[in-house]
Order: sequence, then C-alpha cells, then structure tokens
Amino acid sequence: MAGKRRIIIDTDPGQDDAVAILLALASPELEVAGITAVAGNVPLEFTEKNALKICELAGRTETKVYSGAVRPLMRPLVTAEHVHGKTGLDGPDLPEPKMELQQQYAVDFIVETLMAEEPGTITLCPLGPLTNIALALIREPRIAPRIREIVLMGGAYFEVGNITPTAEFNIYVDPHAADVVFRSGVPIVMMPLDVTHKALTSKARVAAFRALGNRAGIAVAEMLGFSERFDKEKYSGDGGPLHDPCVIAYLLQPGLFSGRECNVEIETGSELTMGMSVIDWWGVTDRKKNAKVMREVDHEAFFALLVSRLGRL
Ligand code: BDR
Ligand code: CA
Repeated sequence: MAGKRRIIIDTDPGQDDAVAILLALASPELEVAGITAVAGNVPLEFTEKNALKICELAGRTETKVYSGAVRPLMRPLVTAEHVHGKTGLDGPDLPEPKMELQQQYAVDFIVETLMAEEPGTITLCPLGPLTNIALALIREPRIAPRIREIVLMGGAYFEVGNITPTAEFNIYVDPHAADVVFRSGVPIVMMPLDVTHKALTSKARVAAFRALGNRAGIAVAEMLGFSERFDKEKYSGDGGPLHDPCVIAYLLQPGLFSGRECNVEIETGSELTMGMSVIDWWGVTDRKKNAKVMREVDHEAFFALLVSRLGRL
C-alpha cells in the first residue's frame, strides 16, 4: 500500500460522527493525526468527552484528541439534543473515558500540524460546525495552500434544510465559519444532505452491525437504535441517514460517490435563510467553482464497507 493518508477529524460527536471516527480508526489506509472537538450537536464538554469514549471503544487509546471552540464565531450555539440525546451519544452505555485530552488547543494543533508537515499531505475532515477550521484559517492564512483537501459533511441543495427550512445543521450553527472555509481557496469535497439522505440505515443494516459481535459493532447498533427514534418519524422509513461516515468512506472509496464541481456560497445576511448553502448546481452564474458537491452514493457498497471495517475493531 502507498503511504497512509493523514487526516485530522474535526467533530461534534454525535452518533453518526462516532461511526465516522470508528470507520477511520479501523481503516489501515488512513492515519488519524488528531481528532479535534468542536461544540455542535451538544456543548463542547460533551463532544470532547464523546471523542475520547469513541477512541477507547475502538481500542485506539494512543489517538490524540484536542478540545476546540466552545461556541460559533458570531452566533450563540444551537445544539441538537432532540436528535442525539442529552449527551450527544445516547444509546450505548459507554464507560467514562480514562484517556485524557491533549493540553494543546485544537486550533493551534491544526495550525501547527499543517505548518510542520509537507504541504499537500494533510486532509481535513470536518463533521460538525466549521468553527475550528475557520479559526485556524484566520489565525494562520498560510495553512490554506498547505491543506491537501477539505472533505466535509454539511449543507444541502435539493434537500434544502434539516434544522431550518433552508439550512443544514452544521452550516447553520456557524454560517460565518462556513463562509470563511468556502472562500478559502482550499479544494473542498462536500457531502450535503442530498447525498447523506441516500445513506439510510435499516433494521437489517443495524442488525448487521450488531451481528459483528464486537464491542464497536454492538455499540454502533445501540447508537443507531437510539437515533432511529427520531429519524423514523422524520424520514418515515425504518432508519435514518448516516451523514458523517460519508466523509471517511469517500477517502477510502471515492468511487462510491458522484457529484459535480460547483460554486457554493453561504448565506450569512438573512435571518430567514441563515446558513443556507447556495449551490450553483446548474451553473447559472459565472461564480468560481469552489467545491465538488456530491449527490449520489452506492449505498449497498457504503454499508458493506462500514460493516467490514467495523468488524476489524
Ligand atoms: C449533521 O448534523 C449533525 O446532527 C450530524 O452529526 C451531522 O454532522 C447533519 O446535518
Ligand atoms: Ca456531526
């Protein structure tokens, strides 16, 4: 195998963030240089602890976890306990973590890593609001051309919104940070709701995780069982979307996804449509294309990949 791809996962776990992190830690093609926690689904005190719990669940206690921004750049924090439960990781009964957070601030870690490593070697994988990534870009603009790629979960075009009628949660929570990221000039691959709403769990898929019989598989089945409560009502199927694992699956098997290069801009002016990701899918403007926007996923192959990788933990 060629050298491992080095990634930093920026995250607000969240059950689907947890599955994404487990997928990354289970995959030999990837080296997780660090996990940076951000406030989002639940406040930072929970997301940072959840990140530690997930590393322990994976048996990867050497993973470095950093704590980052406690709130968005300009707006008060909006959380999603109605989806993820009070802790953000409701479902399995995971033990209190023995691992400790690194002392360094997540934003400093992102900046220092990018400045120290060969340019074009570090991929950023944001799975939550983009506050830490924007703070890093503002703090040290020289990191932008050194980032290999940003592969992120966020935004929507055809599916429009899941937290307001026009905005997806991650972008809505910190639209100003998202604006900084989409204007940064860094190559971006975007996994909007348009693709993640096609990566739906089902009873059979949850049963396949449970049938792995290892701690990770059983915990994931319990996590998805919990999110199901909310998702079933909302999506009226027998499961819900696994948003964040799409980011990691793309790094492992990009051919599972298809989409097109578009201009993407973020609404930060109107309260009515705050955080809307305005995607020029049809190319009706001459605005510069700044992201590859995904729309389709081979969901059978996606779930097969998840199950087989989680089976290694
Ligand atoms: C995104 O919001 C969070 O609730 C999920 O973890 C995912 O990152 C989906 O809109
Ligand atoms: Ca998330």
